[in-house]
This record gives sequence, structure tokens and C-alpha cells, in this order.
Amino acid sequence: MDRLGFVLFLVLGASTTSLVSAQQDWTKDMLDAMQQLLTGDTFEFDPIYLAKLYSCFDKIDPKLKEAQDLAWQGMVNYHDQNGQPGDEWGSCLGNGHCAVYFEQNATQQIFHNITIYEPCNYASNVPYYHVTTQICDHWDLWNVPADVRHALGTVFASLGFGSSFWHGSHTYAGNVADNRVIEVLAYVVHQASLQNLNVNSTVLMDLSMIKRPYSGVEIKAQLTDMFLEQSPEQWAETINSFDMPNYYKTFAGIVCTVFSVALENETADQIIDALIALFSFPPEEEMRALTATLNLTTEEKLVVQGNFESALIKLLYAFVWQEWAIGENPIIYDPAINEQGADLIPVINAFANSLNTFPIYDQDVQDGVNSYPGDEWCNDYSPHAKWHLQAANGLMDLVFLGDDLHKLLKA
Ligand SMILES: *[C@@H]1O[C@H](CO)[C@@H](O)[C@H](O)[C@H]1NC(C)=O
Ligand SMILES: *[C@@H]1O[C@H](CO)[C@@H](O)[C@H](O)[C@H]1NC(C)=O
Ligand SMILES: *[C@@H]1O[C@H](CO)[C@@H](O)[C@H](O)[C@H]1NC(C)=O
Ligand SMILES: *[C@@H]1O[C@H](CO)[C@@H](O)[C@H](O)[C@H]1NC(C)=O
Ligand SMILES: *[C@@H]1O[C@H](CO)[C@@H](O)[C@H](O)[C@H]1NC(C)=O
Repeated sequence: MDRLGFVLFLVLGASTTSLVSAQQDWTKDMLDAMQQLLTGDTFEFDPIYLAKLYSCFDKIDPKLKEAQDLAWQGMVNYHDQNGQPGDEWGSCLGNGHCAVYFEQNATQQIFHNITIYEPCNYASNVPYYHVTTQICDHWDLWNVPADVRHALGTVFASLGFGSSFWHGSHTYAGNVADNRVIEVLAYVVHQASLQNLNVNSTVLMDLSMIKRPYSGVEIKAQLTDMFLEQSPEQWAETINSFDMPNYYKTFAGIVCTVFSVALENETADQIIDALIALFSFPPEEEMRALTATLNLTTEEKLVVQGNFESALIKLLYAFVWQEWAIGENPIIYDPAINEQGADLIPVINAFANSLNTFPIYDQDVQDGVNSYPGDEWCNDYSPHAKWHLQAANGLMDLVFLGDDLHKLLKA
């Protein structure tokens, strides 16, 4: 390089650096504010974990950090402008499809004076980020192709943000960003698990009689673009326009796959018939055709069984604390039951982990310690915070299970 070239290189390098550092780090600002709100600390959100999260974002998608920043900035803006007409900050609670949760503790955070309606249910979404970083920890070991791996990492990051937005804001925009993102996730896992079968069946792949316009992975890309290009006033409409099966249907689809793979013929037949009746699934023959193409050893079936049991135990224990899943059950609002429930998280996860063959990358999240700001009191206090934490553990297993199925189910 000649001298002029070298000087230009230095100048360009310096200006790029200053441009980058001049940009506000909205993700960090909001996580720091969360740390202060939940703990009363004056110090910042765990900087070592944050650095790990950011390098994971970059590995997954060079646009992901920016999308996350714009999402958090969007939430701040939505607060500062008091939402939009018909969806003011704090207005969506117990009306329309916005549920009410046990924790109601509107508290103002210092950064932008944002009122956070459910502080524990807000902060307890950080474990979804921990799923993203576990996906990075497992990076070269995934069986699913890179686009699926990237989609999974991205969707968990979107869920971490979306669910925080909802429980923090009590807005319809937040509600949609929470609930429908779980559907994207389940859809990506379902399609990835069947991908290698190369079956040309919309009933199996799209869980629909007619072909849906986009795959789960493609919907994930639209979600990222939405954060990059749209303001929060538009988010709910965009997310609602995604054509995907609701998550009961998708989970039922995953369960059908597991049973087809892991159980003997007659048992699988019976259970799948029951599921089809329960969830009004499309024709049974399509599901059974799947089994006919398989030829797994007993050992392989046992591994799938153990891995499925692990995911199921973790997810069922999460659902105990979901609040709406069990209706108005007063037991889960009892303080002593909540404390015992929190103590059981590491015990149940250790038992589930004794059944699976999955690597454990994040023991803290399995144990519910150092998993999000305030977890030492929120786990004891809020049922729904336990749901978030434990759903992150269960969904991590579900992703590993989908990856197993992807490997085993080769036509
Ligand atoms: C409400 O949330 C604040 C901030 O996280 C916390 O300090 C306070 O103890 C909570 N109050 C109740 C009743 O849980
Ligand atoms: C937050 O509220 C305080 C007290 O009401 C006020 O002095 C401060 O300017 C507000 N900060 C922002 C960023 O609005
Ligand atoms: C899948 O099925 C549709 C409709 O039956 C057909 O148009 C399409 O060509 C098929 N694709 C492949 C790859 O077989
Ligand atoms: C299991 O059922 C499928 C489809 O009903 C059939 O094709 C296959 O031969 C059966 N396998 C065994 C081992 O019975
Ligand atoms: C299943 O595996 C057995 C043993 O490896 C083999 O003999 C049989 O042909 C296989 N069946 C199919 C349908 O691939």
C-alpha cells in the first residue's frame, strides 16, 4: 500500500470507528436500566454476559444487533409518545386478548422514566437471550443447516425482546410481539425436524391443507426486517399478517413426529389418532406415511424418547406457572407455593437432564440463578417469571430435539 493509501485507510478506519461508537447502544441502555430497576444496583447489566451475547448476535446475523437496538429503541419511543391512539402505554390489560397476570407493580425505571408494569415478568425474559447464546455455544455441532440455526438464534432474541415489551408496556403492540413470536419459533423447529424427509406435503410441512406462502425461516427474516425498517406502530399489523399455524397445532405436529419416531406402531397409532381428534388435524394417513419411511434402531428410539421426556417435563413444569394455562387457580398465587416452586426448578431440571443426551451449556439458567436481574426474589414471587425462565429451559430442549429428528429423519 502506498503512503496516501495508508493515510486514507487510517482516516477511513478512524471515521468508521467513531461512527459506530456514536450510535447509541439501546440494548445495553435498556438492560442496564432493567438491572437498576430490579435490583436497586447502580451498576450495569452483567458486562461479561453482554459481550458474549453481542458476539453471538454477530455470529448469527450481522444485522441482528442493529435489529435488537432498533427494537429496544422502538419500545422507548413508543413509551415516550404514549403508544398510539387506541393503544396507549399501559392500556392493554384484561381487554381484548391482553391477559392479566398476578404481578401488577407499575414501577418507574430511571432511563426515560419508563413505567414498567410487571418488573419481574419483564426482566425474566433475559433467559430467552440465554437460549440464543446456547445456540452459539453449540455452533458447529448443529445438524440443522445454517439458515435454520440462524433463524433459531434470532427468534429467541426476538422473543426475549417481545415478551419484555409486552410485560413492561401493557400495550397491544407488545402483546402481539410476545405471543406470535413463540409461534414462529415452534414453526421453525417443526419444519426443521421434517426437512430431510423431502416430503412434498403441505399437511406435514405447513400443517395446512393449502401451501402457506412462507416457511418459518422466511418469516423469521421478515421479523428481523420489520425491526430494521418499521416503527412500533406498524409492528402488530406486520406480525399479525404472518401466515403460520397457531402454536397448539405446531406443538401437536412436533409431538406427532416424536411419537411416530420413538414409539412402536400400535402405540403411535393410538396416540396420534387421539391428537388428531383433539386438535382437528388434517388426515391421519399423511402422518402415518412418515412412520412407514423410517427404519430406526431401538437405541435410536430410546434416545428420542429420553430427549422428548426431558423437554416435556421442563415444559410441563413451565406451564404450571403460565397463569392463563390453568385459569384462575389460586394455588399458584400462594407465596409459600411460589417459593417451593422456585426451589424445585433446579431439581426438576436436573432430573430431566438425567434423561436426555443434550449438552448443558448454561447451568445457571437450568438452576435459575444469575439468569436475569432480580431472579433471586422474582423466582420466589412471580408465577409468570418462573414460566419465562422454565420455558427457556424447555424450549432449548425442544430445539435440541428438533435437531435430533432432523438428523434421524432421512428418507
Ligand atoms: C415492585 O418492583 C420494584 C422494582 O423492581 C421492587 O423494588 C418492589 O419490591 C416491587 N414491589 C412488590 C410489592 O413486589
Ligand atoms: C424523569 O422524571 C423526573 C422527575 O419527574 C424529571 O426531573 C426528569 O427530567 C425526567 N427524565 C426524563 C428523561 O424524562
Ligand atoms: C409438490 O406438489 C405440488 C402439488 O401437488 C406440485 O405442483 C409440485 O411440483 C411438487 N413439488 C415437488 C418438488 O415435487
Ligand atoms: C408400521 O406401520 C406402517 C404404516 O401403517 C407399516 O407400513 C409398517 O410396516 C409398520 N411397521 C411395523 C414394524 O409393523
Ligand atoms: C431397515 O433396516 C434393515 C436392517 O438394517 C434392512 O434390512 C431393511 O431393508 C431396512 N428397511 C427399509 C425400509 O429401509
